[in-house]
Amino acid sequence: MRTPIVGRAAETEALLACLAAERHVLLEGPVGVGKTALARAVCAELDRPLFRVDGDGRYTEGKLVGLFDPPAVLASGYRPEHFIPGALVLAMQAGGILFINELNRMPEGVQNVLLPALDEGRVQVPNYGEVRAAHGFALVATQNPTEFVATGALSEALLDRFELVKLDYQSEDEERAIVALDARSGPAAELIVRAVALVRATRTDPRIRRGASVRAAIAIADIAARLGGDLARAALLALPTRIELVDPAATPLAGVLDDLAKKAGVAGLL
Ligand SMILES: Nc1ncnc2c1ncn2[C@@H]1O[C@H](COP(=O)(O)OP(=O)(O)OP(=O)(O)O)[C@@H](O)[C@H]1O
Ligand SMILES: [Mg+2]
Repeated sequence: MRTPIVGRAAETEALLACLAAERHVLLEGPVGVGKTALARAVCAELDRPLFRVDGDGRYTEGKLVGLFDPPAVLASGYRPEHFIPGALVLAMQAGGILFINELNRMPEGVQNVLLPALDEGRVQVPNYGEVRAAHGFALVATQNPTEFVATGALSEALLDRFELVKLDYQSEDEERAIVALDARSGPAAELIVRAVALVRATRTDPRIRRGASVRAAIAIADIAARLGGDLARAALLALPTRIELVDPAATPLAGVLDDLAKKAGVAGLL
């Protein structure tokens, strides 16, 4: 089945070109901009398997590469069949795409183990041997531009092995189409228009440090449809977790929401 993707023609073309050229790609864009959706769509298009890993500060090289099953090793030693491959080895052997979310959050050891895999398509696994990448193997990694100051940037050496595809928020029409596609409750078109307008307004309000993505618009439209069209209530449920106010004590969300609605031209409907 082909994963439906709205718009993103240029980004899809860029990603496909990089992967066809056997390059590794760093997808950079704010939370919820569609990085995972794009990677999935491209993998489906290329008919290559996708192995997904989510970066965090405690992730280990062993988990990424693979581990020997300790009881089996104790019983009969380091036999190849006791090796449980991790996502990197699985992707290399299958000639698939290793998709690492938030690579910049991964510890240095994990970033280092990737270097030979990216350069030469090989990785040394102690007690198992060398794993070579089958044709088609590539790494697609994501990083979130506003976060990497707090969570550590990628090493220069690692960055040098990537091409960069930047993703920005899509147009209003495209975001409406995404909500129509993704909202499970099949919200009315009018509800979709208002939810998208409201969410887009969060990205430009000076009282908001970090605005919301289309993911918030999907949630608002879906919840409002189940609350008899009550957009304000749905927004108050969906936005607190997804936006960051500059000064929450001075400007509570409910007040900001009134202004956002006016700005978005949906005031009378809130
Ligand atoms: N172009 C698009 N076409 C269809 N759906 C999209 C598109 N862009 C985003 N979406 C949908 O919007 C939501 C958020 O997208 P996605 O999860 O890909 O974002 P992300 O950038 O990976 O987010 P995060 O930074 O949190 O990992 C998903 O439900 C996804 O299906
Ligand atoms: Mg994602």
